[in-house]
Formats: sequence, C-alpha cells, structure tokens
Amino acid sequence: GLKIAVIGGGSSYTPELIDGFIKRKEELPVKEIYLVDIKEGEKKLNIVGNLAKRMVEKAGLNTKVVLTLDRKEAIKDADYVITQFRVGGLKARARDENIPLRYNVLGQETTGAGGFAKALRTIPVIMDICKDIEELSSDAWLINFTNPAGLIAETVLRYTNVKAMGLCNVPVNMKNTTARMFGVEPERIKMDFIGLNHLSWAKDIYLDGKDIMKEVIEKNLDDESLNMNNIPNLNWDKDYLNGLNMLPSPYLRYYYMMDEMVQNQIKDVKEGKGTRAEQVMKIEEELFELYNDENLDIKPPQLEKRGGAYYSEAAVSLISAIHNDKKEIHVVNIKNNGAIPNLDNDVVIECNAFVDKTGATPMTIGKMHPIISGLVNHVKAYELLTAEAGITGDYRKALEALYTSPLIPSVTVARKLLDDILEENKEYLPQF
Ligand code: NAD
Ligand code: G6P
Ligand code: MN
Ligand code: MN
Repeated sequence: GLKIAVIGGGSSYTPELIDGFIKRKEELPVKEIYLVDIKEGEKKLNIVGNLAKRMVEKAGLNTKVVLTLDRKEAIKDADYVITQFRVGGLKARARDENIPLRYNVLGQETTGAGGFAKALRTIPVIMDICKDIEELSSDAWLINFTNPAGLIAETVLRYTNVKAMGLCNVPVNMKNTTARMFGVEPERIKMDFIGLNHLSWAKDIYLDGKDIMKEVIEKNLDDESLNMNNIPNLNWDKDYLNGLNMLPSPYLRYYYMMDEMVQNQIKDVKEGKGTRAEQVMKIEEELFELYNDENLDIKPPQLEKRGGAYYSEAAVSLISAIHNDKKEIHVVNIKNNGAIPNLDNDVVIECNAFVDKTGATPMTIGKMHPIISGLVNHVKAYELLTAEAGITGDYRKALEALYTSPLIPSVTVARKLLDDILEENKEYLPQF
C-alpha cells in the first residue's frame, strides 16, 4: 500500500483530499496518510485530522491516518508528498493583499506583489521539504499545491533533484463548468491549455471531438459559471473574447482588467468587506466549527465556498494516473521541454501532459500567438527572477523581480512594496 504525506495537513481543504482518496479507493490502495503541520497549526490539525479519520472509517477504508508535527517521520519512505501549506497563515495572506493596495497596486495572493511575497516566504520551506525528500524518500513524487504553484514548481524543478509537479484546480474547474454549460459529462470535453499557472488559456475546446470554442465563448459572455469563488466576476470585454478565440482563465482578469480589478479591491476594503483573506477567515471559522462536530463524517458542502474546491479531483486522479500507469492526460506544471517553441525549454509551464508511471510529459502545444506570447514570456521572467531572489535572499534581485512584474507600475513603487514586504514578513524570511 502507498504512504502519502500531506504537508499543511491542518488545511481546511484536507477533507477534499480525503474525499478524493475515498472515491478512488478501488484503484488506489493507500496504507497510510500522514497529515503534517507545525506547532501553530496543531489545533487545526487535530480538528481536521479527526474528521479525516471519521471519513476514512465511515467509507470502510483500512487506511491509517496519522497526525504529526514531525515532518521527517511523515516524509520517510513516502510514495507521494502533497504540499498545501501556507507560511504565516491567513494573517500573512491579509498583509500580502493589503500592502499593495497602499500603492494602488493589485493585492492578490498568487498574482503580482502578493504572490511575490508569498513566494519569498514559501521558498525556504519548500527547499527544506525537498531536502527531506532527497534524504528520506528520493523516489517520492512531490505534488505541490502551495501557491504561487507555478513559481514554486519552477523553483523546485530548477534548484532541487526532487521529482515534482505543480497542480491547480483552475483547469479542472474550467473543464467541469464547461461540461455543465453543455449538460454533458466532463469526460466528453477535451480542453487544451497553454500558458503558466494562473496565466492560462484554453486554446482549443472539443465536445466529442467537435470544436466548440465559439459556443463556449458565446455562452461565457452571459454565463457567469466559468469563474472561481475567489475572483470577482467582472464582465469580460466582448471584443476581447471574440477576437481571442480562446477561453481565458478567470485569473487573466488581473492582467487585462487590472485597473477595474484594483478599484474593485479598494472598494471592498473601503466598504468593510475586506480582502479575500479576511473573507476566508470567516469561512474558515465556519468550516472548523462544522469539522469539530463528531457526527460529521463526510466532506461538507460548505467547503465549496473556497476557491480551491474540487482540487482533490486534480490531485488524487493524478496520483492514480502515475501509480496505475494510466497514460492519461492531466493538466500539470512541468518543464516546457519544447511543447511551446517560443518559450525557453527549461521553464515550467501549465499544460496538458501525458501521465504514466514515469511521470508527466508535456503534449506538444505549438507556438504562442503574439496576443499572448509577450505576456507569458514577461511573467515567466518575473517568476525566474523571483525564484532566484527567494533562494538567494538578494535585495537587488528581489527588486528586479518585482519591478519586472507587468502588474507593478514603476521601480519606485516596486522599492516601496519590497521594503514593506521585507519588513512585515521578517520572521518568515530567513534568507534575507
Ligand atoms: P492554511 O492557512 O489553512 O494553511 C494550511 C496549513 O499549513 C495550516 O494548518 C498551517 O498551520 C500549515 N503550515 C504553515 N506553515 C507550515 C510549515 N512550514 N510546514 C507545515 N505546515 C505549515 O491555508 P489553505 O487555505 O488551506 O491553503 C493552503 C495552501 O494551498 C496555500 O498555499 C494555498 O495558496 C494553496 N492552494 C492552492 C490551490 C491551487 O490551485 N494550487 C488551491 C487551494 C489552495
Ligand atoms: C483558486 C486557485 C487557488 C487559490 C484559491 C483561493 O482555486 O486555483 O490557487 O489559492 O482559489 O481560494 P480561497 O478560497 O482561499 O480564496
Ligand atoms: Mn490555483
Ligand atoms: Mn483553436
């Protein structure tokens, strides 16, 4: 049987993952799931971990669920290490989202300056985890969810020897919502993605092999279903969508509607709604109250209020595809290796990949159209510089990374942001 280690086991998303293992119990024999957290997360770990135990028992699995603060014990001889931790917790996320707003810059947990700060906090921890994997379970696959997931996958694949893939629930969500729009099972929909994590487009969409891009775009103009719970639903420009002839990730609003999105955030804060972190704090409180009920032994539907709902579909089905040598197509964050010719070979992209027991091989995508190639290369440059700054702790590299982001208006603003970020995250930035 398999040993799975989940780093950040106290996450409110853990029932999502357990539900995924339960759904696939016939094909995925899991002997042990180690849920790992740190001292600060111990209370959450216990509540969500006990729910996980009840879920497993109710489903009749003989999987052992172990709750621990000992990361090495969890990683030792693990077959899969899933990372879903948040350094500094939601308090740090609230800072990531609020600091940029001081300068009228986008405050978002994965995109722009907020994602940059989160990356700097995450990199030292993910590097330590990779060191543990290299020493204690060098054959393990690392499946990373920790945001910014593409940038973290880039860092791991560039600076360590760990076998890793980055994952996000956006592609699965885009496919599932499209299927729902057409009233069909998701298996009948094929979506070909191009781009980076949270910077992606569905380039082609087929239903039973028939190209349905035009219909999807027409429906999407009026239909609000192609959205994530964590992203405000501002309407796309019709000329933009029609000309593009691709389906943009909801995250692309932060780039193509930057001014409106920032104004929207500033308005939310002014009106007392707070940033998404502050909204999530409330949802989380509600969730943990539910989880604490000893009669609860399933994944509660209230978890769907979170942006990461259904991520188990991406995670557990991917693990099963590797373990069972399924030769299936999954959307993952891995090295380009020529799939997109007008992007360097050795950078991480988010793309359809052929998955078997040797891992994931990117499917050929072809050249990016000029309408997206500039932005993708630009954001990739920002990601590479951020990864390097996160590893080295070099102030000037960090400044260069930040002003390189297309979401940062000037070097002056970048410097102010960087100084605030470094100051307010001191305890989580040992590298600086
Ligand atoms: P959370 O704040 O609940 O954090 C999860 C757990 O991580 C907490 O229990 C916390 O104590 C723990 N933690 C913090 N530092 C740790 C460390 N050094 N080692 C081990 N555990 C540590 O966060 P969440 O909302 O559950 O999200 C978790 C992560 O998953 C975030 O990074 C988030 O961005 C990411 N996420 C990604 C996707 C995706 O599409 N890739 C989807 C959902 C969430
Ligand atoms: C989406 C993204 C995740 C992101 C999450 C935030 O699903 O794919 O990468 O972290 O939403 O959701 P939250 O509920 O925490 O705002
Ligand atoms: Mn994501
Ligand atoms: Mn096409």
